[in-house]
Amino acid sequence: MAVIADQCPDVRVTVVDVNEARIAQWRSATLPVFEPGLDEVVARARGRNLFFEAITPQVLAAADVIFVCVNTPTKTFGEGKGMAADLQYWEKSARTILQHARKGTIVVEKSTVPVRTAEAMSRILNARADDEDFPVLSNPEFLAEGTAVRDLLQPERVLIGSRPGPAGDAAAQALAAIYRRWLPEEKILFTSVWSAELSKLSANAMLAQRISSINALSELCERTGADVQEVSQVIGSDRRIGPLFLQAGVGFGGSCFRKDLLNIVYMCGQLGLHEVAAYWKQVVDINDHQVARFTRDILAHLFNTVVGKRMAIFGFAFKPETDDTRDSPAIAICRRLLEERAELAITDPRALDNAARDLAGLPGSIHFEPDPYAAARGAHAVVLVTDWPQFRALDYARIFADAQRPAFVFDGRNALDHRGLFELGFNVVPMGKPPLLHR
Ligand SMILES: NC(=O)c1ccc[n+]([C@@H]2O[C@H](COP(=O)([O-])OP(=O)(O)OC[C@H]3O[C@@H](n4cnc5c(N)ncnc54)[C@H](O)[C@@H]3O)[C@@H](O)[C@H]2O)c1
Repeated sequence: MAVIADQCPDVRVTVVDVNEARIAQWRSATLPVFEPGLDEVVARARGRNLFFEAITPQVLAAADVIFVCVNTPTKTFGEGKGMAADLQYWEKSARTILQHARKGTIVVEKSTVPVRTAEAMSRILNARADDEDFPVLSNPEFLAEGTAVRDLLQPERVLIGSRPGPAGDAAAQALAAIYRRWLPEEKILFTSVWSAELSKLSANAMLAQRISSINALSELCERTGADVQEVSQVIGSDRRIGPLFLQAGVGFGGSCFRKDLLNIVYMCGQLGLHEVAAYWKQVVDINDHQVARFTRDILAHLFNTVVGKRMAIFGFAFKPETDDTRDSPAIAICRRLLEERAELAITDPRALDNAARDLAGLPGSIHFEPDPYAAARGAHAVVLVTDWPQFRALDYARIFADAQRPAFVFDGRNALDHRGLFELGFNVVPMGKPPLLHR
């Protein structure tokens, strides 16, 4: 919404949220999320045509277009628990819109939702009318955290799904007119509502599947003495495969991949497509397996005990350039190491506050250290979980000097110079390639 406001100074954008504390943060000098370039975009537009406000009937009544961007987490209760999308926030939004918005207001489904959610939305919004009072569009968001502002300014495509007929067409064109302000026509794709909904889920499923595929191969590489980075380079040079998203690592995280995959699995199960459901479920299972085997390997290399050993955890965010830790592999890794009674010293350039919240209440010794050198001081092992570029630039000779012997680096992202670390004296355990161990 900030990017829309920035690109269209004559369009008034008002962001509302049931979480009033969050709205207060958006109005303050410290935004509630870290995202490169976002502070500048908000600073330009806020108070001019970008406003953050509590939800009031007046705000909704004044809107020509309402974007619904509420969370759609995995259900934690009842039917579909642990699999299906929890659509309560969506439905509540629909009822609030119905109560306060003017007829004719275009409702845009921005959240990632199961197929046919827009249909349900439309039925709630248009239950009382013969005609469509509230045209409902699907406009799923393809931005990635860490590069969100760039992705919004230069998206590969913007997708608008609408219902067939003149009302749907007119609504789709009204939304497209906003994006046309900074995007060329060919970037805007029009589909049916259901195709739009399923395209977003499919895109995330395919991206997650690539990660699980290369991670599954990384284990095979380790067992056969091959090098997964070499394999990635070779297969990625095939244009049909492409080089991106082929880095083996400790697995995917973030708020979307797991929930969207589980959503597909659940949907397929409901439709009786059990083989298809099992296929996508395996993508999630391989991801969990990757985290489990990473921590098992750490334990095995550290002589099968980490009790009381200081482990420096480099990175907690689910990926670099974000403070988001939702479903970060770091959470599962830290939990397992704590179960083994290791002492954790966690460092991350942005995510330490969220890390402290995620691990709150867990028994054991956990330190949060903004300075990676302080985290690594006296450590038995450095465990790299998030490939922040800052970690590559550290002085590892200094870290080695302060480390316990034998000193280990477990590089869960293959981000570091393994040969260089080995020559400094570290034992180096990369992902998907032979370890470099001093005898
Ligand atoms: N985070 C991403 O990178 C990303 C990318 C693409 C799509 N999405 C999708 O966008 C949606 C939102 O994701 P997010 O990461 O921003 O979630 P989030 O949990 O950070 O934000 C959702 C916000 O909606 C608010 N909310 C809930 N119910 C509300 C209601 N009835 N009225 C007003 N506000 C309400 C919550 O208080 C919260 O602040 C999800 O469906 C997600 O799958 C996210």
